[in-house]
Amino acid sequence: MLVLWPLAGDATDRKTPTAPEEFLTMANPVAPTAEMLKETATLYDNRCSKCHGSNGDGKGSATKDMDVKPRNYTAKALMETIPDGQLFWIICYGSDPDVTEMKGYKKKLSEEQMWSLVHYIRSFAR
Ligand code: HEC
Repeated sequence: MLVLWPLAGDATDRKTPTAPEEFLTMANPVAPTAEMLKETATLYDNRCSKCHGSNGDGKGSATKDMDVKPRNYTAKALMETIPDGQLFWIICYGSDPDVTEMKGYKKKLSEEQMWSLVHYIRSFAR
């Protein structure tokens, strides 16, 4: 099932799949310490920034020819509409592979790393 997230501050016609209910209600099990965020910054810079941008604005160097570009994670009002478990689920399983280049990282990263990335992504809007 595809559901459209609110488009506030987001011009793209987005059809990001919605996580199952049990994910949407999950609390992030990882504590957001300064040390964890520093380690996660390196992980993000290596694996995510070419698309999501090193400052999280979604304008990484690899996005020029993409129809569906990554969201702007610095947009606080927009990010507040997306639950942690939704972000985690997309990192885990990827978005719609027919229309986006967001792949799942379930086989490459640990759950702890993926929850840490959720904290890191949220830090762009603070
Ligand atoms: C090849 C480019 C690319 C890479 C690399 C990439 N992403 Fe994405 N990502 C995207 C695109 C494009 C979307 C938008 C998908 C959509 O609109 O459904 C996206 C969506 C997401 C979302 C869903 C949030 C939302 O907008 O609803 C999260 C969370 C995310 N990415 C995190 C990550 C993390 C963490 C990494 C690194 C481990 C990463 N991405 C690597 C391109 C990428």
